[in-house]
Amino acid sequence: MTEAPRGRSGFGMAAPGRLPADAGPGEAEGSQAALLPDDALLPDDASVNLAAERKAAGIDDLLDALDRELVGLAPIKRRIQEIAALLLVDRVRARFGLAAARPSLHMCFTGAPGTGKTTVALRMAELLHRVGYLRRGHLVAVTRDDLVGQYVGHTAPKTKEVLKRAMGGVLFIDEAYYLYRADNERDYGQESIEILLQVMENQRDDIVVILAGYKDRMDTFFASNPGMSSRIAHHLDFPEYSLDELAAIAQLMLSEVRYRLSGEAEATLREYLSRRMVQPRFANARSVRNALERARLRHANRLLGEPDRAWTKDDLMRLEPEDFLVSRVFQAALDGRGPEGA
Ligand SMILES: Nc1ncnc2c1ncn2[C@@H]1O[C@H](COP(=O)(O)OP(=O)(O)OP(=O)(O)O)[C@@H](O)[C@H]1O
Ligand SMILES: [Mg+2]
Repeated sequence: MTEAPRGRSGFGMAAPGRLPADAGPGEAEGSQAALLPDDALLPDDASVNLAAERKAAGIDDLLDALDRELVGLAPIKRRIQEIAALLLVDRVRARFGLAAARPSLHMCFTGAPGTGKTTVALRMAELLHRVGYLRRGHLVAVTRDDLVGQYVGHTAPKTKEVLKRAMGGVLFIDEAYYLYRADNERDYGQESIEILLQVMENQRDDIVVILAGYKDRMDTFFASNPGMSSRIAHHLDFPEYSLDELAAIAQLMLSEVRYRLSGEAEATLREYLSRRMVQPRFANARSVRNALERARLRHANRLLGEPDRAWTKDDLMRLEPEDFLVSRVFQAALDGRGPEGA
């Protein structure tokens, strides 16, 4: 869909349950709803057009972009659609006077490195903003060090400062399990957890907390912190990417920066990925990004190696097998070294 994000302007700061001011006539066909003043309740016999509502809120654009710009992740995308549907229906219900308690939307994203957790969190923040759930829709990403102090009395102010910054948006806590140290019950992390729990409960209409990290460690963390577990409404598990998905991610990343692979380079990159996948410190899509950045470096040097040659536009865009083959991922197979720093 190529529609301009018109729902965004004039809607961003709308209170939940209110209609965007610019939802013009004709958009809400068969619905008197869109023509009424913002805060008027609809009569019982009115009807609404959800497609028009969705469009006006700019949700279609966002979900389409999510689908287009992120490879795979089918279960994640489905859940995001479900959440969007719930919030949209809640908004519309409110206009009939069917007010319901705002759903709690704290979440947990588990998965291996580079599987898209941070990326999806950013999009989630944007979505929650567009449906009017979050008033700002920004994302504040932190780890234990941002929340927990070194000395007595330092943790509470640190955690509160972070929460203050995140109000109206999403607080994304990476590797959240480091907040809890089972071997030390006087660890300051516990103090931070308690403040977080309070805010997650009492100010949940103004902040969404997303915990992220490895699945097994998160499970252990929840087992020791049932209060935290019970406040999480959505657990999303990010699967590792298949070879095909990694190759598709590479194509997407390259087209974003206006590069392309020659036919042979496509096969070489595939071979590279299939080797890299089974080596230590593989980080899914992030490893793809790194490999492509190094290939661009080599490509540039290859071209500059013959500075007087007449390089064409296509030459400037096209990566060749040699831009990948010098990687240590291939060397490792030759001389038995590991891929570190490849
Ligand atoms: N499905 C995908 N399609 C396209 N690009 C992706 C996809 N998943 C991740 N990426 C890209 O890969 C990079 C790493 O993703 P991201 O930082 O979201 O992963 P992560 O799960 O948060 O990793 P970590 O656990 O290490 O923090 C980003 O540049 C992102 O744009
Ligand atoms: Mg991340």
